Amino acid sequence: MDRIRIVGGAPLHGTIPISGAKNATLPLMIASLLTDETLVLDNVPRLADVAQMKRILSNHGVDHAVDGKRAGQNGMAGETLRLTAREIVDTEAPYDLVSTMRASFWVVGPLIARMGEARVSLPGGCAIGTRPVDFFITALRGLGAELDIDGGYVVARAPKGLRGNRIVFPRVTVGATHVTMMAAALARGETVIENAAREPEIVDLATCLTAMGARISGAGTSTIHIDGVDRLSGTRHTVLPDRIETGTYAMAVTMTGGDVLLEGARPDLLDTALGVVAAVGGEVTSTNEGIRVARNGSGLAPVNVTTEPFPGFPTDLQAQLMALVTRADGVSKIRETIFENRFMHVQELARLGADINLDGQHATVTGVKRLKGAQVMATDLRASVSLVIAGLAADGETVVNRVYHLDRGFERIEDKLGACGAAIERLSG
Ligand code: EPZ
Repeated sequence: MDRIRIVGGAPLHGTIPISGAKNATLPLMIASLLTDETLVLDNVPRLADVAQMKRILSNHGVDHAVDGKRAGQNGMAGETLRLTAREIVDTEAPYDLVSTMRASFWVVGPLIARMGEARVSLPGGCAIGTRPVDFFITALRGLGAELDIDGGYVVARAPKGLRGNRIVFPRVTVGATHVTMMAAALARGETVIENAAREPEIVDLATCLTAMGARISGAGTSTIHIDGVDRLSGTRHTVLPDRIETGTYAMAVTMTGGDVLLEGARPDLLDTALGVVAAVGGEVTSTNEGIRVARNGSGLAPVNVTTEPFPGFPTDLQAQLMALVTRADGVSKIRETIFENRFMHVQELARLGADINLDGQHATVTGVKRLKGAQVMATDLRASVSLVIAGLAADGETVVNRVYHLDRGFERIEDKLGACGAAIERLSG
């Protein structure tokens, strides 16, 4: 299994191109199931999760092709992916595919909407929380689907098609908002989703669906209206930049010191997080090319942060922030409200000499003068990158094990950081 070796201490200087967003790409790829025409996605990141989604979609009969390199394109440019679900030949998403990546469960909505049936494995447990799918089931039943759980599978039928309805989520959910929006796009009549997720990835999907002929308004607010249509067509859509990757590198530069341009980043996608980076001590400047983040010599200040749905502070940056404030000049408080088990990185950061106390949803981080390199273990995607950030600032060598977690959501991280002066390398096998 690959590992990443880091020798800490080098400030970061240079440019990091921000990739397309993983959490926008996955639902956009699934949207290809809604039409028999070709959906072309530009700026697609080269990630393990994207490769897995290609396998899941081809199991249903979706053809996919990636354009070759074009003149003037450098190796960091996103892929152009062509997806065509001319005919859906299989409406089952088997356990061995779904269990490797939760988002694959989201095919349930488009399959019911287009084919009137679906048999999709329940995604099962996850390192960061129980993550049930009850909101999905209630929403799809609300759209008129008959749904049963049988042998670990959601078995759904809507022989006469779906019909619009008012869907109220008891709690903000990104996944169920995506899925309900896609299903409602082909339902008869109007659907209103209330307490909907407002994440930029929801808006990106709604923009693409609208270009496919869907009638959607209110995406980005907590109330989304969808007037169903009979069929959707193909389109071409550019995936928005990854705000979590952006926030991660902004925290890395603030941790190590230096001056980096995050090329292609959009500040409007992570206002709150950039505000926290500035409060800790990063100098954040918006430019025409993206976002510039620098820290030269000034110390790191402690902060108090609670994770919340967008536009609040994203849970997907919680671990990275914790790594950053391990060396702050004082005590920080971090509260995790989205997932009940998202502190797996705490014990690993403690191996580097961090001083962190946990009490339920609350983490108290007492800043230390120095971190010292050590062997650490990645446990999930965001926890693993927090160990990389800490390793970049620790004295000596850090080795991060099980980096397959990283490859799920960070494209060529060692190349991007190495290009900015980090002493980082991948150890294969
Ligand atoms: C999406 O997960 C993201 N994944 C997550 O990013 C992200 O952390 C999360 O949204 C919150 O922002 C993708 O986009 C692929 P939710 P999702 O439904 O949709 C509970 C990463 O690191 N809930 O908004 O699964 C749930 O357990 C990943 O890239 C139910 O109880 O998250 C959680 O506590 C990790 N029942 C809360 O709601 C349901 O039916 C929010 O989950 C659905 C959700």
